[in-house]
Amino acid sequence: MTRLAIDPVTPRLGACVTGLDLSRPVSKGLAEDLRQALAERLVLFLPEQNLDIAALKRATGIFGPVARVPYVEPSPEDPDVVAVLKEADEGRISTFGGDWHSDFSFLEQPPGGSLLQAVELPPVGGDTLWADQVTAWETLPEELRAQLEGRRAIHTGAPYGASRAPQGATSRSIRITRGDPEADRERAHPAVRRHPWSGRAALFVNPIYTTRLEHLGEAESAPILSRVYAHVTRPEFCCRHRWRPGDLAIWDNRATLHFAVNDYDGHRRLLRRTTFEGEVPVAA
Ligand code: SIN
Repeated sequence: MTRLAIDPVTPRLGACVTGLDLSRPVSKGLAEDLRQALAERLVLFLPEQNLDIAALKRATGIFGPVARVPYVEPSPEDPDVVAVLKEADEGRISTFGGDWHSDFSFLEQPPGGSLLQAVELPPVGGDTLWADQVTAWETLPEELRAQLEGRRAIHTGAPYGASRAPQGATSRSIRITRGDPEADRERAHPAVRRHPWSGRAALFVNPIYTTRLEHLGEAESAPILSRVYAHVTRPEFCCRHRWRPGDLAIWDNRATLHFAVNDYDGHRRLLRRTTFEGEVPVAA
């Protein structure tokens, strides 16, 4: 019988999972163990998986139906895969995911999570960070809790990639559709959501896509949100992954933020990414 080894990365966030090979189908019991590990640890790191695309998609299906993400040009290899790529000659550009965010929170049903498989890496740099939004909510100072409890936050896809782009330059390796009216419309989601797997409450505000709190303007919301963002990305809520080729990361998009560190100009970095479906967020 396969036994998973689950080693925590920080006290509450992240685990390194060994003892399984996702290049082959896994049993129902093992699939359930993986879902439970993800519900508890929110991001899992599986070394030496080296999956082909069929195996990556099959592994994705353990966590939910494979979702085709909108507004990002898919990999020529497969329409359900995004090639997260920065070429060696793409210096001083913004990169995909290069700010704290959860994915596509401006959709009616934001994704449940994603899988990211390292293919080609810089010799050093290009790490990814995650931040635990369950602990961030549990430790949020009382006056900020009072501002967010029972309230909705407004999300829109319009700001995508607008920040951290030196001289406005964006990637040519990842093509993003901008100005789509459906992505750019305002959508309200609870600022604190109930996780459907664990029942835990998690903050659900997004430093890229949340523009304001419902019934407040952007100017009134900004000082509240900037204090919330300073809290939710504190180092004690974060883990950081240094990639090795073949590593697979699986993260929960309902209760974490993530950040792709763009510190490797002059080197090629390629990862393959898939996504699984989520649901309309429910207030905690
Ligand atoms: C992302 O999905 O936001 C990109 C993560 C990464 O490139 O490390």
